[in-house]
Amino acid sequence: MNKIEVHNIYKIFGPHPDRWMGAARDGVSKDALLERSGHTLGLRNISLSIEAGHIHVIMGLSGSGKSTLIRHFNRLIEPSAGQILVDGVDVMGLKPRELEKFRQQKMSMVFQRFGLLPHRTVLDNVAYGLTVRGVRRSEREARAHHWLEQVGLTGFESQYPYQLSGGMQQRVGLARALATDAEILLMDEAFSALDPLIRHEMQDQLLALQAQLNRTIVFITHDLDEALRLGNRIAILKDGELVQEGTPEDILLSPANDYIEAFLQDVNRGKVLNASHALVERTLTLTMRTQPVHALERLVARGYSYVTVLDGKRLAGVLMRADAQRAVREGARDISRHLSDMASVPASAGLDEVLARLLCNPEPVAVTDDQGDFIGVLSRSKVVELVTPSASGEPPQQAA
Ligand SMILES: Nc1ncnc2c1ncn2[C@@H]1O[C@H](COP(=O)(O)OP(=O)(O)OP(=O)(O)O)[C@@H](O)[C@H]1O
Ligand SMILES: [Mg+2]
Repeated sequence: MNKIEVHNIYKIFGPHPDRWMGAARDGVSKDALLERSGHTLGLRNISLSIEAGHIHVIMGLSGSGKSTLIRHFNRLIEPSAGQILVDGVDVMGLKPRELEKFRQQKMSMVFQRFGLLPHRTVLDNVAYGLTVRGVRRSEREARAHHWLEQVGLTGFESQYPYQLSGGMQQRVGLARALATDAEILLMDEAFSALDPLIRHEMQDQLLALQAQLNRTIVFITHDLDEALRLGNRIAILKDGELVQEGTPEDILLSPANDYIEAFLQDVNRGKVLNASHALVERTLTLTMRTQPVHALERLVARGYSYVTVLDGKRLAGVLMRADAQRAVREGARDISRHLSDMASVPASAGLDEVLARLLCNPEPVAVTDDQGDFIGVLSRSKVVELVTPSASGEPPQQAA
């Protein structure tokens, strides 16, 4: 289900946006529009769906329109054209009272500079959104305590923001946003002011919380590694336009254009792509009950030196060609006693980890799902090509 949908949003900043809508639709460049009219093209024809329970990352360089886009979601900014639906409701149709309620209840924001109230304690800061909503003191304090515990700040309730480190202040900001029970969190560069180690910790914490909470999170970042780590999906903006939108894998495996490719250059691909992306195209499998002659025939016909053998959906082992020949010579009824163990990795294993496994294991390696059922066999060449696409000289999606 889509929590947020935007349809064909345009935003032109300046005194007479309507006059320049035609030019914006006709594709005038951002620079040309500014020069000609003094108006800034904030967003051009953006359509985007954000699924409930997902972390949707919005990426792009400074000035590309990220903040402008998410401020449309709670109507802090009104579009020059286009439609914004939240839970199917057109936010432009909300009356002032409804809008106020909508902002208080549906969404909370977390900012880069924490935005804490300096003269209030940590506890009061976290309870603030509830105060605004008229929640009783005892209840809001109980909830504030709960969320402070969730972000690891129990014991700091009566401190003031200036007494906390940046990372701790950001945790307070996060606790405050979570405490309102808003279904949607808008996080604008929320972790960008933190040093790398703390930032990584906050990412882990957000992922751990999200695993329980299932909020809908729109997360703005400049940082591609952060985007790939957090995002179920990622939207990349450039000069107010949406250049590409998709899962991290979509974007890594088939970048829409040179701009995205340049963006992706320094990514740690081995962490984003996993074993499921590097399967052998068509895998021959046999069952345990296969007769040795038939197994050998199949191996010879395809020129294979081994074949994977399944027991139901489970991986039973691997039959090497020499063992198939031996089974035939010995007149075995089936191949079940002639199997060797087959190494396996879970589908979710990152390719960097997989690569390490392959280096110390010359034998074929199977890939299994969460339940331990067989999915396929790893392709060594694919692993290498996916991790180092430039080395192969071919775009990864064309890999054999
Ligand atoms: N209130 C405003 N009036 C005029 N122009 C604006 C206004 N707000 C944003 N802009 C312009 O719209 C464009 C997009 O700005 P926006 O703040 O959305 O970028 P951003 O991607 O969030 O950048 P950053 O990463 O620096 O926060 C920029 O060219 C900016 O100058
Ligand atoms: Mg911004």
